[in-house]
Amino acid sequence: MNTSFATDIGQTSEQSAALFAKVACDIRERGYSILPEALPEPLTRQLLQQVSNLDETEFVAAGIGRQSDFVHEQRIRSDEIVWITGDTPPGALWCQWTDQLRLILNRQLLLGLFSFESHYSHYAPGAYYARHLDAFKGERNRVLSVVAYLNPEWGDNDGGELVLYANQEDATGVKVRPQRGTLVVFLSEDFPHQVLPAQRDRYAIAGWFRTNTSTATRIDPPR
Ligand code: OGA
Ligand code: MN
Repeated sequence: MNTSFATDIGQTSEQSAALFAKVACDIRERGYSILPEALPEPLTRQLLQQVSNLDETEFVAAGIGRQSDFVHEQRIRSDEIVWITGDTPPGALWCQWTDQLRLILNRQLLLGLFSFESHYSHYAPGAYYARHLDAFKGERNRVLSVVAYLNPEWGDNDGGELVLYANQEDATGVKVRPQRGTLVVFLSEDFPHQVLPAQRDRYAIAGWFRTNTSTATRIDPPR
């Protein structure tokens, strides 16, 4: 890893490796990891700058499901999203950082994570995402969910918390404030979660590590 990458991102490869090892350890022990101040500040600053400068027309209302079963479901979620590509400098840094995470998770947990897809999400005041799972049992498609928060200051009354539930029966959950730098990683099939209504503009990234479920007759696209 070259030095300019470490400078741009604000974290040396040793620091990232230690952090990613901690994520792997948490996933092994309890299936999820919540780490405040995990994302280096220069990286979140560049990502926030990019997402907050995007033109409103670049956002699309978020949907549920993939391709043919894709629906816009206002009752379930009301955020809007923009997919992240490696074609811009902040997008490229984010993709490199998460790829290093992918390699460490594969080495330590043998998950066979193959690809990563992620989008910015913007929750305008009042927007939310009702309780849901990111993947369905047995699909082995989205294996690990990653959420990264970009909001510099998030007060007690700003709402928009992520609530992560231990299982389908859990009604209490763990609340996570969407504060810049916090990284949340969890097994996509196992943890129902929701986003409480935000009281102000809320910027985050949601991403998924996937296994390759292509077959000889059907190519599984990465989205
Ligand atoms: C999602 C999601 C959580 C968050 O986009 O699927 O659950 O805190 N996001 O933004
Ligand atoms: Mn989700």
